[in-house]
Amino acid sequence: MSIIQGIPDPGPGLRLHLNEHTGGCSPRVLEAIRSLDATALSFYPDYKPVVLETAAFLGVDPDQVLLLNGLDEGIFLTATALFGSRMPNVGNAVVPLPAFETYLTACGAVAARVVTVPPGPDLTFPIDGVIRAIDHSTKLVFVNNPNNPSGRLVPRADIRRVVEANPTAVVFVDEAYWEYGGESFLDELPKYPNVIIGRTFSKAYGMAGIRAGVMVAHPRLLERIRPIVPLFNLNVAAVAAVRAALQDQAFVAESVAQANESKALLYAALDRLGLRYWKSATNFVLVDGGDRAREIIDGLWAKQIFFRDRTKDQWCPNCFRITTGVVAHTRQAIAALEELCAAR
Ligand SMILES: Cc1ncc(COP(=O)(O)O)c(C=O)c1O
Repeated sequence: MSIIQGIPDPGPGLRLHLNEHTGGCSPRVLEAIRSLDATALSFYPDYKPVVLETAAFLGVDPDQVLLLNGLDEGIFLTATALFGSRMPNVGNAVVPLPAFETYLTACGAVAARVVTVPPGPDLTFPIDGVIRAIDHSTKLVFVNNPNNPSGRLVPRADIRRVVEANPTAVVFVDEAYWEYGGESFLDELPKYPNVIIGRTFSKAYGMAGIRAGVMVAHPRLLERIRPIVPLFNLNVAAVAAVRAALQDQAFVAESVAQANESKALLYAALDRLGLRYWKSATNFVLVDGGDRAREIIDGLWAKQIFFRDRTKDQWCPNCFRITTGVVAHTRQAIAALEELCAAR
């Protein structure tokens, strides 16, 4: 019997296929979860302290913050609020490619008309195509900065152009990996009531299993989404985890430092191997395996080192994506990759 829910666990080995933090979360997060008692688990969570602390950390008002059961939930909630059955089913959503799959899944779930935009040269953000795709009926535009899977940053000027193209369209700026690149649109939020910034605790905070994220936007924009948010969307362990995680910014800085070192090591190895890649502002690197792609992906999986197969994406054929977080794990992946390529 096969159970189809989530992405199947590949089994023992090195998980470098989902951009997770392979070194685990902050010890302070673990301690906070361990300190929960039986009553804490038996009561519905109180969100006020965690909302206040998150808002203070982000430097925004509490009514600009909506905590999420993972950023995925925020993408679904936004698509549902804008295109769901309570809304007249008109208008479109603009999705620049290659894209994080959930944008298309969420839009599909609410039967939104999706206009996809092919990437610019060398997987750059297709600003001109996106501007052309936005019309008076556009309700939602996704901007993923930095982009998954390319790892490339979107220039701030491009985001401004998108946001200003149709002020009635909501622009969802997905900053799931922002900590690694350090470029955020958050400081421009006061100027733009049509922008949502999405963040997650799954990546630099190492808490993908906890499922916690946040959307930040103008209070009136969040008011359009709040009515459909499940009443208790974050569980009590996630609340405790987020509060502790925010207190441990040294952990985040270390995640970013390790990712930077990992990327430098991987770039050097890929140069030696003659494999093309895109410099990344995230905790992963997209690699063009050329005619060696299939052999590399399958060969590494056979060695229980799991890379993400992106070969089926028409905009990055022959490509695979490697998580580059913990340096020791990156070294292990590089050694296996070099061994495989040497044996050719
Ligand atoms: C671009 C992007 N957005 C959102 C998410 C989802 O994050 P979360 O784990 O918080 O649902 C991911 C996860 O891989 C991602 O790559």
